[in-house]
Amino acid sequence: MCGITGYIGKRKACQVVLDGLCMLEYRGYDSAGIGLFDEKGKMQVAKKAGFVSGLKKLAYDRQGCCAVGHTRWATHGLPNTANAHPHKCGRFCLVHNGIAENFAGLKSDLQKKGKKFLSQTDSEVICALLDDLYDGDVLDTMGRVAKMIKGSFAIAFLCNDFKDKIFVIKKNSPLAIGLGKDESFVASDPVAFAKYTDKTVYLKDNEMGIVDKNGLQLFDFCKNKKTVHIQNTNLFCDGDGQKVKSFTKKEIFEIPRALRHTANDFFADDKIISKTIDIFSKNDKVILTGCGTAYNACLVGKYTWEKVLRLPVQTELASEFRYQNPIVDKNTVVVAVSQSGETADTLQATKLAKSRGAKVVAITNVSHSSITKNADLVLHTKAGQEVAVAATKSYVTQILLFLCVASVLCKQSKAVKEIKKQIDDLPYLASKALLLDDKISKLAKEHCKKQGVFFVGRGLDYPLATEGSLKLKEVTYMHSQGFAAGELKHGSLALVDKNVLVVGIVTQKKVADKTFNALHEVSSRGGKVLVVTQFEKMAKEFGADGLLCLPGATDLLMPMIAVIPLQLFAYHVSVARGINPDKPRNLAKSVTVE
Ligand code: F6R
Repeated sequence: MCGITGYIGKRKACQVVLDGLCMLEYRGYDSAGIGLFDEKGKMQVAKKAGFVSGLKKLAYDRQGCCAVGHTRWATHGLPNTANAHPHKCGRFCLVHNGIAENFAGLKSDLQKKGKKFLSQTDSEVICALLDDLYDGDVLDTMGRVAKMIKGSFAIAFLCNDFKDKIFVIKKNSPLAIGLGKDESFVASDPVAFAKYTDKTVYLKDNEMGIVDKNGLQLFDFCKNKKTVHIQNTNLFCDGDGQKVKSFTKKEIFEIPRALRHTANDFFADDKIISKTIDIFSKNDKVILTGCGTAYNACLVGKYTWEKVLRLPVQTELASEFRYQNPIVDKNTVVVAVSQSGETADTLQATKLAKSRGAKVVAITNVSHSSITKNADLVLHTKAGQEVAVAATKSYVTQILLFLCVASVLCKQSKAVKEIKKQIDDLPYLASKALLLDDKISKLAKEHCKKQGVFFVGRGLDYPLATEGSLKLKEVTYMHSQGFAAGELKHGSLALVDKNVLVVGIVTQKKVADKTFNALHEVSSRGGKVLVVTQFEKMAKEFGADGLLCLPGATDLLMPMIAVIPLQLFAYHVSVARGINPDKPRNLAKSVTVE
């Protein structure tokens, strides 16, 4: 997963392309590069390991009106300058997002013909293949190359014979073209050109195109012309990343607003509500799937639906789902949760579910994302664009949609009324949890050097423990694990000593005393305990080393409130350890490889 941008028009292409790459750094930020035709029509390449900001210093002011750019998340080869895109071979200069699974065979065939490679990437092989097969007909060459590559690709390239064109190819990785007046844009995500135009063409799989300042010509891989469908993307554009001190913190503080928008949007749409009722009432098996934080939201969704609806719900990691020969048929609803809507494993899970006749419901934050194309019903989280790598506001809105769906499927009118009232109160309660920020910052400084951190909870606090732990390890690089509180004594308690912090999450009334019992077992072994709870009195009696008191709320709301201090804790520990929480090492926001 990487980010691609391109520009052809009358502006300085370098500036448009590099600004666009900054918006796409959520897709990867190991290295960045740009390829362009300068004012004399000469093909130039500039690339650099590290963030786009480094490349900007090198290339922002270069002249020229046609360029392609790339921000990389390494799949094949180290994250160094040689492996950065674009790759230049003969007449061609190419950027690529995806994986060419058969690249090794193609590379060795080209090597036998004498071709030398400068990088370890599969992408350079695609560029070399174009150069090798090129006979003056670019379109024909593109189609042949596209048919030879196995795997996924979104490709944009320049060809020395056409200095006013960008060529694009797509299969299984997203690619969009923005159409302006006498100018056109290319990007993995239209957010990169949203400030210039809202007229977007989303390329479909197995399509290729020629982009010039007058627009796009579209073809299939056999050179048959295809119709260009223009859509209006009205994206919320977050402005210049440089001005925001930390996107992670900014996005955590946007949670109350995200919750309000998500609930209002859902309840205002009668069509979505009746489709939701229709799909779930006709099916008797429900599977929730997603990856990482989205999967953790599924775990909360399971508890919520089983509690409110008494509906048996199965959860599956999307990265495992397709390899298990899952029991899915036309009576199954598969709910796929994905902030980006582009996560490869989650997409593949939806494709498998569809192929077996199941209904697919997508919960996503990106309305035109790939996952929506496979879905019978799309439920849109209205978190707004999430730039920081760690999912924060999107997680709470995913959980909220599970609760909203429960309220429309629930047949007991009293319960429905009660849930809706709780949802109304939620943004206010979330704002109260944000007031803990200063206290959390102090606690973070105190605990930022611990050897390890465990998060424990029971009932709905257990999935929350797994999410608190994922957030911490992701942005602080500390070792951490989330447990069901009752499991500690079955082995992991052996790890506890004075160098370990245990965060006890105690928000569920029925099991609160049981979780405090587990925390007693920790403190009597010398472990430090930080309690996150709405039961202040019980926590004080217990005598925690640190205490974060949450506003009181019913059980089903608590995951959306209690996660806020956990996210803030991860953020502040990250800062205390001198790490940039927005861009943790080795990660990318959108994981479009399996
Ligand atoms: C963690 C995080 C990841 C994502 C996961 C799925 O903070 O962000 O674990 O949740 O990569 O991404 P989406 O939701 O885009 O499918």
